[in-house]
Amino acid sequence: MPPLQDEPEKESPPPKGKKLTRRKFIKYSALAGGAAVTAGAVDALAIEPHGFVVTRHDFSLPNLGAAWDGATIAQITDVHVGRWSDFDDARRIVEMTNDLKPDIVALTGDYVSRADAITSALVEVFRDLHAKEKFAVLGNHDYWTNAPGVVASLESAGIGLLTNRHVLLRRGGDVLCLAGVNDVWSRDPRPDAKAALKGVPDDVPRIVLCHNPDYAEVTPPGVRIDLMLCGHTHGGQVRLPLIGPLILPIQYRKYAEGWVQGPQCPVFISRGLGMVQIPIRFNCRPELPLITLRKA
Ligand SMILES: [Fe+2]
Repeated sequence: MPPLQDEPEKESPPPKGKKLTRRKFIKYSALAGGAAVTAGAVDALAIEPHGFVVTRHDFSLPNLGAAWDGATIAQITDVHVGRWSDFDDARRIVEMTNDLKPDIVALTGDYVSRADAITSALVEVFRDLHAKEKFAVLGNHDYWTNAPGVVASLESAGIGLLTNRHVLLRRGGDVLCLAGVNDVWSRDPRPDAKAALKGVPDDVPRIVLCHNPDYAEVTPPGVRIDLMLCGHTHGGQVRLPLIGPLILPIQYRKYAEGWVQGPQCPVFISRGLGMVQIPIRFNCRPELPLITLRKA
């Protein structure tokens, strides 16, 4: 009578390297599953949360003048100092940003998660950003924490606030418009791209900072935006195989992360640098995007 497949190996040794018994298969599968869960847990808790990566992107901006061709924008968003991120994280982010030598630093909100993070230390961290042009908008957590305190910190650090307004940046004879709108969940004032871009000449390229990418879906018709830079989503923070992003506080899920074409303009959504709700990132590294502008 032939031996059963799950009989002990000593009684029926399979040819070496050719046959795997069912018992061994189950044992190895359990070991592999356990190892994968352990590796995933280590990654999610200890490696990814503070494993900041620089992501590089090229973007062809319509009407960009030659003087701005090759200019770079570093985007800092969703640092969330105060709960799962601390000032050491913020300092590392600023050092990484300075190493990139960006022409512009665009800050797109959610700098703090707790009021006790709004101190002179926050100002000192922001003040160490070395770019010539530094502009910011606020995020929902800044409002929920202490918006006046965040605004005072940014301004003390020499960072301009773009709440429904714009600046015209000049290089040689070429002009670039950098604008910002208030957060979608804020009522005072409501986000207003029309007001933000009022008076910008038609031939000037326009980049708009906006914390929450949902605004791309409700931008007033007729308002031309050439590129919108957003954060807020954290890329989902935890992205499970077959399930996708776990935490996605937006109405329009297509704006989870990366480059998305909105109804009126291209949108880039950074995965951000901090965490909310749980101190975990999985399959969703915190990112520091560096966008190089190209003449279209
Ligand atoms: Fe956030």
